[in-house]
Amino acid sequence: MRSAPLTLLLSAFLCAIGCSDGGDGGAGGTGGQGATGGTGGATGGTSTSAGGTSASTSGTGSATGGTSASTGDASSSTGDASSSASGTGGSGGGMAVRTPAASASTLREAGEKANPPILIGAAISGGGLNNGDYKRVAAAEHSYVTAENEMKWDALEPNPGQFSWGSADNIVNWARSNNMKVKGHTLVWHNQLPGWANSLSGATQVEQAIRRHIENVMGHFKDRIDTWDVVNEAVITDSDTGVGNPRMRPSVFFNALGDRFLDLAFEIAREQDPNAKLYYNDYSIDALNDKADYVYEMIKGMVERGVPIDGVGFQMHIGPPNNEAGGADVAANLRRFADLGLDVLISEMDINRCSNQVTAEEQLTYYHDIVEACFLMPECKAITFWGINDGRSWLNSWSGALCNGQSSQSLLFNDQYQKKETYNRVMDALMGR
Ligand code: XIL
Repeated sequence: MRSAPLTLLLSAFLCAIGCSDGGDGGAGGTGGQGATGGTGGATGGTSTSAGGTSASTSGTGSATGGTSASTGDASSSTGDASSSASGTGGSGGGMAVRTPAASASTLREAGEKANPPILIGAAISGGGLNNGDYKRVAAAEHSYVTAENEMKWDALEPNPGQFSWGSADNIVNWARSNNMKVKGHTLVWHNQLPGWANSLSGATQVEQAIRRHIENVMGHFKDRIDTWDVVNEAVITDSDTGVGNPRMRPSVFFNALGDRFLDLAFEIAREQDPNAKLYYNDYSIDALNDKADYVYEMIKGMVERGVPIDGVGFQMHIGPPNNEAGGADVAANLRRFADLGLDVLISEMDINRCSNQVTAEEQLTYYHDIVEACFLMPECKAITFWGINDGRSWLNSWSGALCNGQSSQSLLFNDQYQKKETYNRVMDALMGR
């Protein structure tokens, strides 16, 4: 069991210095658990392990242990006891590692008591907040909120210059009353735009619309939200798996302004709030694939040009039709973005079983290993799940046809809001198990 983190870290390190992504078996979806070996151990971990078999806790240290030769232990000198994982990155060593809580009975508590703490989030919908069980689980298990739809452009600015705050305010105020932090999602995105915005044309019109939207939205939430997805999903590939011909996505923004709409959006957001954390967010950039490589170069260029960007959100929609990424791939990928001096975060995680195209075991392995990859990196600031319970997952309708109409079974709680084994595996990863 202890070998899981080491396996992960070691392979991440090897990948960082140049492996093909075959090692993890992730991409194909078939390789599944065997390849990711490490997790196997955790399987035994039974269900309600919540409390904390603390023996294990004291450190992600596991990796520390003996074998660190391979990761070059000498370089890890910086840290406290837990700094073993130097190898994760290839970023020049000395990377500290997050230390798990000694005990925790909820995901939220595991995140809050980790050192440094990590936010555990969920996408919250206005409809969900009408349900008592939903609200109870959401607030008990999470410290971070993303509005699932209520802060998108069509919801907030249905007519030009006319704003509608009610549904978003409900979610934000509910979150704050439960001591949860909120990330604003999302300022500039090609989807869920009102018709009027989609039919804008010409650089001046589009630039003015972006400016008015960002200024009003950030202004309205200024005292309540200090972290924003400024641009969402600006890149496209031939396949939703992130493979083939990566390029800027045609949109009303790109068509009028070219690449510069990205820089412009971040610059306007920075003018609006000099202290906010400003993030780029995208899907199928979780694995080491064409899209992730392209987005990496794009973000690197922004950093080099001095564009005010603070981090990158990896949506982590795993399974059809999106990418599949094993823990080692994710670790190596997050590492290279963090090495640009940016925050990284898992921003919309779910794992689509899609009519058994991802097996139950593969799903458990992915959940554990991907959460672990983020948890081990202090630069990884948050892990947000895209919903609370299976029955309400967006995937059920969105990928319904592709998955024979079957439930995506993609989240941590079942339709009765009970914890699933996926929950236990996430908890294991947060507790260093
Ligand atoms: C999804 C919502 O979950 C659905 O309810 C809605 O119909 C479509 O959008 N990437 C994102 C999220 O950034 O905003 C999307 O949310 C899922 C994919």
